[in-house]
Parts: sequence; C-alpha cells; structure tokens
Amino acid sequence: MNNNIYIETYGCQMNFADSEIVTSLLLKEGYLLVRDIDETDFILINTCAIRDNAEQRIRKRLRELRALKRSRPWVKVGILGCMAERLKDQLMAEEDNVSFIVGPDAYRQLPAMLDRIRQGERMAETMLSDSETYDDIEPVRYDSNGITAYISIMRGCQNYCAYCVVPYTRGKERSRDAHSIVNEARTLFEQGYREVTLLGQNVNSYRWKEASSGVEVGFPQLMEMVAEVDPMLRVRFATSHPKDLSDDLLRVMASYPNICHSIHLPVQSGSARMLKLMNRRYTPEWYLDRIDAIRRYLPDCSITTDVIAGFCGETEEDHQATLGMFRRVRYDYAYMFKFSMRPNTYAEKHLQDDVPDDVKTRRLEEIIALQGQIALENNQLEVGKTFTVLVEGESHRSDKQLFGRNSQNKVIVFDRGDIQPGQYVDVRVTRCTAATLIGEIEK
Ligand code: SAH
Ligand code: SF4
Ligand code: F3S
Repeated sequence: MNNNIYIETYGCQMNFADSEIVTSLLLKEGYLLVRDIDETDFILINTCAIRDNAEQRIRKRLRELRALKRSRPWVKVGILGCMAERLKDQLMAEEDNVSFIVGPDAYRQLPAMLDRIRQGERMAETMLSDSETYDDIEPVRYDSNGITAYISIMRGCQNYCAYCVVPYTRGKERSRDAHSIVNEARTLFEQGYREVTLLGQNVNSYRWKEASSGVEVGFPQLMEMVAEVDPMLRVRFATSHPKDLSDDLLRVMASYPNICHSIHLPVQSGSARMLKLMNRRYTPEWYLDRIDAIRRYLPDCSITTDVIAGFCGETEEDHQATLGMFRRVRYDYAYMFKFSMRPNTYAEKHLQDDVPDDVKTRRLEEIIALQGQIALENNQLEVGKTFTVLVEGESHRSDKQLFGRNSQNKVIVFDRGDIQPGQYVDVRVTRCTAATLIGEIEK
C-alpha cells in the first residue's frame, strides 16, 4: 500500500478546520496528501450529521466508493467527524467497505490506527474528550487561497438546543489556549494571510484561563489580542449565540478598524413558544434587543442568521412570527433549513415531528422568498457607496475581474486593473444582485 491520503470534507467550517488538523497529523508521520482519488490508498471522509440529508449524502458517497473498491480492493476507506461519532459501531456493521471510524476528538490516534489498518484490521475510535483542542497542531491549509483562513478557537457545545445533534457528536465545550490562537494568527499574517475567522459553535462563551498567572481571557479580550496582531489583518468570527452576545464584544468590535462589521446571529425561530421548546434560552424580545445593540454600536454591521422551518408543533402563527422577525431584522443573508428530527436529541425523546413535510417545505419557501427580496433591497442600498475590499481572487465568470469582500462580508466583483489578490482596494458599488455587489475601483 502507498502512503497517500485523500480527504473529502462535508459539513461546517469546523469540519474543514479539522480536516486540516488531520492532514497535519498524518503528514508528520510521512503520509502525503493527494488531490486525485485515483492516486490514494487511504480515503478519509470527514462527515456531518446535522440533518438527515447530510447523512444520506455520505451514504450515497459510500456506495460510490464501493464501486471504486471493486477495481482497487486494497483501498481503505475511513469515516471521520460527526457522523462517525454519532453512529460508531453501527456504521462499521452497516458499511462493510469502511475500514475505520474516527470521532472528532480521536484524530491523534489516526497514525497508529492506519498502521494497523494496513495489516487488515478494522477499527473505531470515538472517545470524546473534555480537554482536546489540538492547540499544538499547526493545520495544513491545503485548500487555501493564501489570503483568508479559519482558526478554531474552541470545540464542542453544551447548549443542548432541542433539535441539535452537535453536543452529542462534538462533546463538551472547551476553549483553546489564547496564546496558541494569537500565535497561529501571527504566523498566518507573516505568511501573507490578511484575514482570519475565529471559529466555534458559540464563540461568545470562549473562556480560557492561563494556569501560571490565573488570568482569564474571554471572547472580547481574545478578539482584541488577535486584532492587535496587525492592523492589516482582518478578524472575523462565527458563530454567536444570541443569549450571550455581549455589549463588551460590540464595544471591542467598534474600537478596532480591522475587526469586521459582520455578525452571524442564528435566530432559529421568531416565535417565543418555539424558542422555548427549542431550548434556545432567549426570547424574541431579547434577540431584538441584541439586534438593536448591534445597530447602536456598529451602524453599518451586516447581520446574518440561521433559521429552522417546521420544528415540532410549529403552527401557522409561529411561522408568521418568524417571517415577522425577518421583516424586522432585515438580514443580509440567511441559512434556511427544514427541521430534520435527529436521533437522541431532546426533540426526538420528548416532542413530535408533527409538521407535515409539504407544510415544512411551503414555510421554508416563504422564508426563502422573503429573505431573497430583503437581501436584494439591502444590497440596493449599498449602490453608490465605497467599501474597502480585501481581494481574494479572480471572479468565477471572468479572469478580467476580481472578487473580494468588504468588512460586512459581502462579495464585491470589479474589473481588475493592476490589483492583485491579497491587496486591499477601495471599490465603489455601481450595481448589485441579491447575492453580489458589482463595482469599480475608486480612483
Ligand atoms: N452552533 C451554531 C449552529 C451550528 S449548526 C449555533 O447555535 O448558532 C448550524 C445550523 O443548522 C443551526 O443554526 C440550525 O439552524 C441548523 N440545524 C441544526 N440542527 C438542525 C436540525 N435538526 N434540523 C434542521 N436544521 C438544523
Ligand atoms: Fe447546536 Fe445549539 Fe450548540 Fe448551536 S448552540 S451547536 S444549535 S446545540
Ligand atoms: Fe455538521 Fe458536525 Fe458541523 S454535525 S454542522 S460537521 S459540527
């Protein structure tokens, strides 16, 4: 067998960040990362379990790999990530062409596991940890544009939203050493990166204590520390839980020009009754108070969200409350989902998935239509304004155009002139679609 690994990643940014850790751990042991699946003897699939369709997609991929294994029977397939954690031995039993299963906290064991898998063993390692943060592992950013990067600052989640599988797949919440985060940001800046996004399921509850000094670092302080790496390094973060988005954080955001004005604040529902059933631990009033605080401290801040249509017991009135919330907040972007019942969650144990699928679909479509309209109107308000854009690369449509993002995280496309990716440039917006701003370089 060769020493080549091939990795495919599904799910959220945290999974992509984990794949970079896995790659780092394996390259240290002499493995080589290849991007062509035909060149590898080890296929690693980093999976997501958030909704049923995420898992169905992986199952389909495994069927495709079954065909590949018929022509190259020695190839070993491994399942990593959240679905590995959720299904463990069941996946081993059901998918006989899978050789290994590794949960999100067990990646350090991968090199040793692969040694045994070469010998023909099949094995699963899915122990969750209270302390693993991989803080000493320098991720190998194999898919990077060399300009923007994600930095994982914490792992796990213990909010136990009633619908959500993440606390079961990723374990307890734990924060990474603040100095290792700042060092990673500094190294990235020295390598030419110009933007970092700090990642966690609920970054506002980041809290790390330095053992030697007893000093505690919360999320606002961490943001300051990273922002101070260099004024030319942009800093973003995701995701914020509305229950603990603090004024302190907003004040820090307002005082550092390199902290981007963009906040992802998943609302999930606009109905007080649904939010309570979801165990989100805030009311619509509290949520709107946080929105008002954002607008007060950062008038030009973009706000984006996640929403679930058709959660257990959702009535037409609850759904209208969600539409009302969207009209009131006027999000710049939203990730919109149909509720999917997940095994072992509070919802599965105690609630009924009683909204018929066609009703869920119709409600979701209503939210999507409304949000599309609002996003377009919001973008139309940007026409005529000038934004500083961090250029990320060539536009997908034409190599004569570049694209980048403004502080608000909106994509702006413009004629390239003599600008190169990685530079900052002032661009005046001349027109827009619901998804993109189009502009020209300000002379
Ligand atoms: N930690 C983040 C969310 C991570 S999961 C937060 O709390 O904001 C990303 C999104 O998937 C969630 O915000 C939610 O909108 C959606 N989601 C999670 N579980 C779901 C389920 N069972 N069905 C449908 N959507 C779900
Ligand atoms: Fe899931 Fe809630 Fe944790 Fe987000 S905060 S990952 S929705 S349990
Ligand atoms: Fe999916 Fe796990 Fe992320 S379930 S959304 S990959 S934390």
